[in-house]
Amino acid sequence: MVSNEIPALTPDELLTTTRTIRKRMDFERPVSRDVIEECLTLAMQAPNGSNMQSWEWLLIDDADMRCKVADIYRAAMADHIRELQEHPENYPKTDYSDEAGQRMFAAVAYLNENLHRAPVLVIPTFGGRTETASVFLQASMWGSILPAVWNFMLALRSRGMGSAWTTIHLNREREMADLLGIPFANRTQAGLFPVAYTLGTSFKPGRRRPVQEVVHWNRWQGR
Ligand SMILES: Cc1cc2nc3c(=O)[nH]c(=O)nc-3n(C[C@H](O)[C@H](O)[C@H](O)COP(=O)(O)O)c2cc1C
Repeated sequence: MVSNEIPALTPDELLTTTRTIRKRMDFERPVSRDVIEECLTLAMQAPNGSNMQSWEWLLIDDADMRCKVADIYRAAMADHIRELQEHPENYPKTDYSDEAGQRMFAAVAYLNENLHRAPVLVIPTFGGRTETASVFLQASMWGSILPAVWNFMLALRSRGMGSAWTTIHLNREREMADLLGIPFANRTQAGLFPVAYTLGTSFKPGRRRPVQEVVHWNRWQGR
């Protein structure tokens, strides 16, 4: 195991400070293949349906390929922004004019411009397609990859690295599959995760709704 680059975090600190990293990626510092594979080894300790382990991970560290991948991400982002403007009724939230919303928008825009500079781009995939599956099967398939992805982010954090959970390119999933040779008909991409060492290692807990507002004990209350 590669030694921790940051002071050991308690489990609670790790869980509360693993943030989406966009503006604090160190694009100049290389990330070795060894450390990525080490984090994936830990990631794959995650629960998954019937222990089928249908996960496979595409890891992109080639500079030309990163540029091509980032171009698709940017095109998908442009599509999404256009869609938000033309059909705001399809989205639960479109007003990001408060301070936190503006900060997030600036960070999203920064990552959008600089995605190709992240030393490694990771695309987790799982076997099968969910478009016509029952809710049970959808939950089983997505639930067999997402815990591993989050484990991966925790493992990165504990080694002084970080990532951003992104899904925007999935609106152009087939185009990405064609670029990277992923067999689209029987393999689903779960997102795109740029990986880099973080600039500084101190991160704060995120803003979240209080637990009292979101729990229902014994019986659903309200609407
Ligand atoms: C399912 C999912 C999809 C996301 N997609 C994107 C994305 O496409 N681009 C991006 O910059 N951030 C994306 N994010 C990051 C969220 O904006 C971020 O998690 C949220 O603002 C909370 O910030 P935190 O992770 O630092 O607590 C996504 C996060 C999740 C969980």
